Amino acid sequence: MKRLKVVVIGAGGTIGSAVAAALGERHEVIAVSRRGALAVDLEAPETIDALFDAVPDIDAVVSAAASVQLAPFGKLSDEGLAEALRAKLFGQIALLQRAAARLREGGSVTLTGGRFDGVLPGGSAGALANAGLEAFVAQAAPELPRGLRVNVVSPGWVQETLDGLGLQGPRGMPAREVAKLYVSAVEGAMSGQALRATGSAAGRTTQRPPPPRR
Ligand SMILES: NC(=O)c1ccc[n+]([C@@H]2O[C@H](COP(=O)([O-])OP(=O)(O)OC[C@H]3O[C@@H](n4cnc5c(N)ncnc54)[C@H](OP(=O)(O)O)[C@@H]3O)[C@@H](O)[C@H]2O)c1
Repeated sequence: MKRLKVVVIGAGGTIGSAVAAALGERHEVIAVSRRGALAVDLEAPETIDALFDAVPDIDAVVSAAASVQLAPFGKLSDEGLAEALRAKLFGQIALLQRAAARLREGGSVTLTGGRFDGVLPGGSAGALANAGLEAFVAQAAPELPRGLRVNVVSPGWVQETLDGLGLQGPRGMPAREVAKLYVSAVEGAMSGQALRATGSAAGRTTQRPPPPRR
């Protein structure tokens, strides 16, 4: 496999650090977040432009940043909803739009969604972002130029996150297992897909079949 130049946004986070480590075994990884010399804030699209100006010849971008806060439906104002979606939904779409113009031919974008097992109180805005990302990626993928690809990884609970919250309940998937989905999205040939992490102790992962092209 060719050695790729891959930008990982959110590379210091729970998932992002595992993704950066896994990709770093075979590729050049440029780790960014809102802090540091190459600061990127998904809420500020001009910082994404600045990243592509500063770093030439990027093959792939992975976003593992920006989550949606839990918020009770009854307390979700118009402004609060827009704010909740700004980075994770609109910011990642802004990233895709810019990457489509700036990545090397045949490059890829891998975004991060998520999924809940059943109903999660306060999870409506997060569910909207996750469903919106999967739908947007499926529809936008066939329109990308120059052989570019886009996919979204949709993890369930990550074990390290549950441990950090002190939750003893449902078992999550270790971040290093979730990271394998990102590696497959970067190195594989799929596009328009939602790669969903399922299972836990056995470390299983599944991918949904590709959506029909319309
Ligand atoms: N952990 C889970 O159980 C889980 C499950 C399902 C889905 N997810 C999704 O996976 C993604 C990553 O989750 P995580 O648990 O790994 O998060 P995390 O540990 O909180 O790490 C987030 C990373 O993103 C950076 N970041 C945050 N906001 C940003 C922004 N606006 N622009 C650029 N960088 C930003 C942070 O660094 P700075 O503060 O330095 O910017 C940090 O490196 C999120 O979208 C989350 O919703 C997580």
